[in-house]
Amino acid sequence: MSKASSAAKIAPGDNSTLAFDVERVRADFPILGQEIYGRPLVYLDSAASAQKPRQVIDAMSQAYETSYANVHRGVHRMSQLTTDAFENGREKVAKFLNAESSDEIIFTSNATAAFNLVASCFGRAHLGAGDEVIVSVMEHHANIVPWQLIREQLGIVLRVAPIDDDGNFLLDEFEALLGPRTKLVALTHISNALGTIVPVKQVIDLAHGRNIPVLLDGCQAAPHFAVDVRALDVDFYVFTGHKVYGPTGIGVLYGKRDLLNALPPYMGGGDMIASVSFEKTTFKDAPHRFEAGTPPIVEVIGLGAAIDYLAALGAENIAAHENGLRTYAEKRLGQVPGVRLIGTAREKASIVSFVMDNAHPHDIGTIVDRAGVALRTGHHCAQPLMQRLDLASTARASFGLYNTRGEVDILAEALESVSEIFG
Ligand code: ALA
Repeated sequence: MSKASSAAKIAPGDNSTLAFDVERVRADFPILGQEIYGRPLVYLDSAASAQKPRQVIDAMSQAYETSYANVHRGVHRMSQLTTDAFENGREKVAKFLNAESSDEIIFTSNATAAFNLVASCFGRAHLGAGDEVIVSVMEHHANIVPWQLIREQLGIVLRVAPIDDDGNFLLDEFEALLGPRTKLVALTHISNALGTIVPVKQVIDLAHGRNIPVLLDGCQAAPHFAVDVRALDVDFYVFTGHKVYGPTGIGVLYGKRDLLNALPPYMGGGDMIASVSFEKTTFKDAPHRFEAGTPPIVEVIGLGAAIDYLAALGAENIAAHENGLRTYAEKRLGQVPGVRLIGTAREKASIVSFVMDNAHPHDIGTIVDRAGVALRTGHHCAQPLMQRLDLASTARASFGLYNTRGEVDILAEALESVSEIFG
């Protein structure tokens, strides 16, 4: 038995021995054996996209090799097998989020498509001129621009919840924005640029106290800790496959069943209809109503394998490992001359953004790349946040379950070279 499959044998939730053996985990990720410019790859860009374990790669190859056809369409055996595997993936996602039913899980092509779906469908069903949607200043563009497109169509108003200079979400200021015209709150769970964890349970309770539904962007949360949509009582929750160690091309929208079934369809086409005539077409309920066309079949199977992988390691073990890395990185990077951490909120996860005296983030990224270190540099698709912080860009290290303290040391040493060069 390979090391790869032994990692997945850790029983879900078994942290009695805190059996998070990072070297064993790393052995599951073939790409981590690569060298960059003759140095071991130090991959610190998992917030942009996480690497894939062998279990996910194998599940997808096996699907193509042994059990592949279109879903929901054929009486033939291969279609039935593939439909079962695809719907089993939906069940796994429902369990991953602790949704009440797999009917509440909609598959989209990515997280961006899920935000556009909600903006379009919720907008047509519930929003009119002067109605307000609240976002935060920390949103990714994917949870800003769709609302601006709807604003152009419907004349809605976007209100923006602020943060303080450390990146803390300001709950009182958020509450003050809730008013009689507020129709939806659409917030990130974790800032992709700062790592701030938003106090989403309090946000939801405040919004629900005024009968306002809440959409959360969980792209940066789902990889790092357990998300329980029923405990949160959140109305819509979005995450993406490729950041939870699954494939690209697959996003997830969770929605409460009654809310989903009260929305009009998003795209029209095959598989989402109950009946079609030239006079009148009727639609299925969720999730199929929102899944026109051939879905990302093998991507769902791969996502299911990724969720199994995370479950085998245990969400609490992953969170503990990554929090240890982040706090170590904050301390270690804070000691490098000229480094200033950006985003020091009280509650943070897995992301360390920084700037350096005299060195542009793109220079930082280019120099550390020569040491084998992959960072993201730029505005992180969060330009309004950069404007709020009076910055054009930052360098960002983001940690996944396979990173090590030794890799943080390599980053810190590479930054010391940057510091020497730019003095
Ligand atoms: N949203 C992804 C990131 O933060 C791409 O890098």
